[in-house]
Amino acid sequence: MFRALQLFLKEKGAGALRRQASSAFAVNGFSSAPTSSQRLSGKVAVITGGASGIGKATAAEFVRNGARVIIADVQDDLGRAVAAELSAATYTRCDVTDEAQVAAAVDLTVELHGRLDVMFNNAGIPRDLSPTPLGSVDLRDFDRVMAVNARGVVAGVKHAARVMVPRRRGSIICTASTAAVLGGVVAAPAYPVSKAAVAGLVRATAGELARSGVRINAVSPHAVPTPLMMDTMALWYPGMGGEELRRIVEKELNEMVGHVLEAEDIARAALYLASDDAKYVSGQNLVVDGGFTVNKAPNMPAAPGLHHCIH
Ligand SMILES: NC(=O)c1ccc[n+]([C@@H]2O[C@H](COP(=O)([O-])OP(=O)(O)OC[C@H]3O[C@@H](n4cnc5c(N)ncnc54)[C@H](O)[C@@H]3O)[C@@H](O)[C@H]2O)c1
Repeated sequence: MFRALQLFLKEKGAGALRRQASSAFAVNGFSSAPTSSQRLSGKVAVITGGASGIGKATAAEFVRNGARVIIADVQDDLGRAVAAELSAATYTRCDVTDEAQVAAAVDLTVELHGRLDVMFNNAGIPRDLSPTPLGSVDLRDFDRVMAVNARGVVAGVKHAARVMVPRRRGSIICTASTAAVLGGVVAAPAYPVSKAAVAGLVRATAGELARSGVRINAVSPHAVPTPLMMDTMALWYPGMGGEELRRIVEKELNEMVGHVLEAEDIARAALYLASDDAKYVSGQNLVVDGGFTVNKAPNMPAAPGLHHCIH
């Protein structure tokens, strides 16, 4: 479906589409089908990027399930508001590109609650996801995306392990993306490279962590209408209303019929990975995409006997 977007952008001229950015998309983070099974009873979690979107929904899901949560983000007002709305949550400013701030968020958590059970390395940025030919790639943009999405996750894994390994327990979760799995989801290198790095980091560290009783997994969402996604859509489709943009994300970028992919679905995947239900699951990438990434049909020439299986 992102191919369709690319075609659309090619027709409209990507440069012109970048001008009218808007970030006024509200996300109802706490809306759908909450679980309350206390699956994280007594556990303590840090969620980077917890002030918005998937991180915010996950903070709510974790608290509902008995966890105490530290929301680590750079959006101070939003982060404080989310923490105030949830009981059992605290906000701390943490720019994941600065290792010292990541270390400090982990240390604050241990100071406040005596332990860290779950580290959700979820903070991420898109920058410009418009289709970009290789010759136009801006390497400063590339470095910025890598600094947040990949290096920031390495810092989170490093400092979570620092306090989890001595206790010989803990669950580290990192947000990757379907862009880590498929080359064509985003046709500009920085974002998919950063997300593939996250999936690679999970695989590269799972063995070492397993020998200390610590688990690490990735969760890979497909398109979810969070501020990150909707800001990108607004750049791509200037002048289009929020409802229509949301419909495109929910119905056209996604393929599963009868369900809409929401931030809460990613939160519940993270809940599973965080909980003891996943006590032997490590090194995996849990792709939450309604089957999107496994659904590439072969480009078969039309033939009378094939019509029933080609869409
Ligand atoms: N929304 C989607 O369609 C989608 C799909 C696949 C993957 N993801 C990934 O999900 C994660 C969460 O994104 P979201 O969609 O909820 O977007 P979002 O913009 O709603 O949330 C991202 C949060 O990360 C925070 N953040 C950004 N830079 C930071 C930094 N340097 N330090 C600390 N926090 C920082 C932001 O302030 C924001 O609160 C990201 O890693 C994103 O790449 C999103």
